[in-house]
Amino acid sequence: MEDSLGLLRSSLGTARCVAFTGAGISAESGVPTFRGTQGLWRSFSPEKLATPEAFAEDPRLVWEWYDWRRQIISQVKPNPGHRALAEIERRAPGRFTLVTQNVDGLHDRAGSRHPVKLHGDIWQLRCTGCAAEIRNEQAPLEPLPPRCPCGAFLRPAVVWFGEAIPEDAWEQAFEAATQAQVFLVIGTSVTVYPAAGLVAVARKSGARVAVLNPDPTPADELAEWVLRGPAGQILPRLL
Ligand code: OAD
Repeated sequence: MEDSLGLLRSSLGTARCVAFTGAGISAESGVPTFRGTQGLWRSFSPEKLATPEAFAEDPRLVWEWYDWRRQIISQVKPNPGHRALAEIERRAPGRFTLVTQNVDGLHDRAGSRHPVKLHGDIWQLRCTGCAAEIRNEQAPLEPLPPRCPCGAFLRPAVVWFGEAIPEDAWEQAFEAATQAQVFLVIGTSVTVYPAAGLVAVARKSGARVAVLNPDPTPADELAEWVLRGPAGQILPRLL
């Protein structure tokens, strides 16, 4: 591990780099991941909570789940993994892109400047009628479900199953993946597409791939470096 860390650290000093993060980077902050033995999808059904159909059928139920997650996230802090990525960005101006599947906002709170949010942001609300977006950090949120001044329900501005990634976020992420010389895959099960496909895009475009995860992932076979362990312990060692 020490050799890999050293090589990776020195490449980060000069290379164009992308960090691609998932729920695992927030695990050490106390935010539950989706998969794995403690994962949210063990106890909750994605079809009932994270699809446009579920919201149309029972907006209150969907909102209760998002409100519960917002309350958890509002009570936790970014961990050393988030903070290390913000520091790597500061040290590599113009050479570093953070692409996240997370909606929790912990990268922003750790000081990352422009995280590309593939799956949206749990603190943004979007009107199901007029499409206006507002920022709302109230937790718990009252009343549920919240309404837009235009009268229609507001929904969390996150990407649900069956929905497309926002075009501008996807373009930025795709472009960064094709340009990357080093592509870090951090705390993600690499199972949800199209986001997961960025690893292969980067590899095919010539990036050297590093996976940081305590468990095996489908990206391991594309990786030059597989660093097994918690992101909050490994990332600070890359500084
Ligand atoms: P998952 O819950 O699928 O995977 C979390 C990954 O983090 C697993 O591979 C764990 O082994 C790893 N992990 C756990 N603790 C870790 C730690 N301390 N350090 C590093 N890694 C750790 O989460 P995602 O891959 O982010 O989509 O899931 C992708 C998408 O599926 C999410 O964005 C969400 C979900 O359904 C939407 O909401 C659209």
